Amino acid sequence: MENTIRSLQQEIIDFEIGTKADLEAFRLRFTVRKGLIANLFAELKSVDPAEKPRIGQMLNQLKLAAEAKCNEATEKFAADEAFGNARKDLTLPGRRDFTGSEHPVQKVLGEMKRIFSDMGFGIATGPELELDSFNFDMLNFPPDHPARDMQDTFFITRKQNGSDVLLRTHTSPVQIRVMLDRKPPIRVICPGKVYRNEAISARSYCVFHQLEGLYIDRKVSFADLKATIYSFARQMFGTDVKLRFRPSFFPFTEPSAEVDVTCYLCGGKGCRVCKKSGWLEIMGCGMVHPNVLVNCGIDPETWSGYAFGMGVDRTVLLQYKIDDIRLLFENDIRMLRQFPA
Ligand code: DAH
Repeated sequence: MENTIRSLQQEIIDFEIGTKADLEAFRLRFTVRKGLIANLFAELKSVDPAEKPRIGQMLNQLKLAAEAKCNEATEKFAADEAFGNARKDLTLPGRRDFTGSEHPVQKVLGEMKRIFSDMGFGIATGPELELDSFNFDMLNFPPDHPARDMQDTFFITRKQNGSDVLLRTHTSPVQIRVMLDRKPPIRVICPGKVYRNEAISARSYCVFHQLEGLYIDRKVSFADLKATIYSFARQMFGTDVKLRFRPSFFPFTEPSAEVDVTCYLCGGKGCRVCKKSGWLEIMGCGMVHPNVLVNCGIDPETWSGYAFGMGVDRTVLLQYKIDDIRLLFENDIRMLRQFPA
């Protein structure tokens, strides 16, 4: 008897009730009045009286286990049915899993970061809410100098602790933060969002991305800057690109230049995107102005350096053939789904 009870115990545990038919089979085998367990109770009479309490207890436990399993399955089927009746709409299209993917801006930024980190640049970040002094003064913008008007600024508060708070108009203030924070040699890139109060259109938006570069060491020259930009441009835009450095002005660099690459859409022949010129502007750059080094406590007699700053979004638009910059910021899922991982 004891062996029979044990083997039924195991059978109850192993019995899989996947359908209502299974449940009925289980019930008929174990829990009905003429079932296996009831039969064993009938046989209890013939068990040795000394063993009866122990065997009786085992049998009771067997009965309880069978009933519990039966009840649990009954409740589960009832719940499934209630749910199914309430929710079933066979006309609904099936649901497919949607896996998120990297935003096109992050893909391009990721590629830029990879190229510069292969060249030994670390990554630094700074706040998007910035002090006027870091965004302008310490970068050698004189007060009320027209150069400030080159960048239409969103001011947040006027004169807090002696400096206005604004939304940074470029990533160059991160240069200042890094130089105040560390001793040369310094070699970093600073990717991030910047803000300008400009008319919004398919070509310009009030927020966009820049990637800044800064290298300070002994005897850094313009030739080092050119070599770095060349190496970057070949990896980013293709080994055939040519570069053009045009003299320019930025308060924080001297000399300064703007850099164009041969239009990588038409190969320099001239097309709609490069406005028939064959060139695309990719960045501003130059040798860090001695005033900027002094502002950050770095001796310009010992140290020199170069800096560059490039827009990221235009490259994204060109690389992914997106014709409106606003699409990069509206987070429209219909747009994002076109760029799977
Ligand atoms: N901050 C400049 C801008 O937003 C871009 C720039 C130009 C950054 C020259 C630099 C640089 O670091 O050297 O227009």
